[in-house]
Amino acid sequence: MYGKRSGITVHEEEPFNSEPPRAALAESAITATDAFYVRNHGPVPEPAAGWRTTVTGLVERELDLSLDDLRALPDRELTVTLQCAGNRRADLMAVKEIPGESPWGPGATGTARWRGAALADVLAMAGVAEGALHVGFEGADTSSEVGEPYGGSIPLRDAIAHDALLAWEMNGEPLPPVHGGPLRVVVPGYIGARSVKWLTRIELRKEPWDGHYQSTAYRLVPPDQEPGLGVGMELGLVAVNSDVLVPEDGAQVAAGPARVCGYAFAGGRRKVERVDLSLDGGRSWTQADLGEDQGQWAWRLWHAELELEPGEHEITVRAWDSAAGTQPEDPAGSWNPKGYANNAWGRVRVTAR
Ligand code: MTE
Repeated sequence: MYGKRSGITVHEEEPFNSEPPRAALAESAITATDAFYVRNHGPVPEPAAGWRTTVTGLVERELDLSLDDLRALPDRELTVTLQCAGNRRADLMAVKEIPGESPWGPGATGTARWRGAALADVLAMAGVAEGALHVGFEGADTSSEVGEPYGGSIPLRDAIAHDALLAWEMNGEPLPPVHGGPLRVVVPGYIGARSVKWLTRIELRKEPWDGHYQSTAYRLVPPDQEPGLGVGMELGLVAVNSDVLVPEDGAQVAAGPARVCGYAFAGGRRKVERVDLSLDGGRSWTQADLGEDQGQWAWRLWHAELELEPGEHEITVRAWDSAAGTQPEDPAGSWNPKGYANNAWGRVRVTAR
């Protein structure tokens, strides 16, 4: 379905929501498009000829751009990790139930090469008017439950500082419809929710986006409050996170030296500095080897060889970022009513024979 390979977990068929198994993410530092997770709130819009995106709000000149207008700008390719705020929610659900939300594992993240125009170039074309502090994005999809188009915003300064792209290509191919084709935003370092797909409108604003997906959803609600309009804090920059990809949780492995690998992502404008592994629940740690550095906006895959005695083991991982930030030990401390932003230590349990 939607060009995805078999073996993925489909959380919902309509709207389509899927994530790959851990091992698929370990195949390559660039996630294959047929494995890349999909997070949709509404139907995938029918492909339409003559796609247009407008630039409105606090601008000096309103624009109504075709794809060809955008392609006439200098194009850039960036390697960017997208990570959904709901990534690794299943571990929060094991702490306490989270009704109405999908139990995403660690696969609601992936890294792709995105090609498109710099949002900064489009903003320069429109001219930013005085008082503009946020850039809003609106998509062509409306979920029947919410009744308004999908949207969200980022601070204007980060549109530039984070190299935000208006992308029409993913991993060297035209952007697939399920990933927002023909045109989507890619905002490095931010929760995936701000990388609005099927982009129809850019709006320069004084205030952050006041639509559902920023004023009610994608907020970190305190554990003792009910989600609702304006409750809790807006999510934006991603916190440092990591998990084990191989071996699979619950796997049987051969006793002796075992190859272990996974991902670490710093989020924001931070970098992954170190990845620690433990076989004794965090009493002692060793460092994993970091894979290729794909630049500021991408995860680091990591790997290590661990000696596994016959018996049961828990492999634990935590990453450190360039702000000396690391992950909390236990998801219980960060449980929240919508199940977002779980970055507790990654753990897989294996049996060595
Ligand atoms: N954009 C639109 N128009 N509609 C959506 O439902 N989902 C957002 C974001 N952009 C969404 C959207 C969320 S929550 C995430 S995590 C990413 O898209 C997922 O991007 P992907 O499906 O290409 O992996």
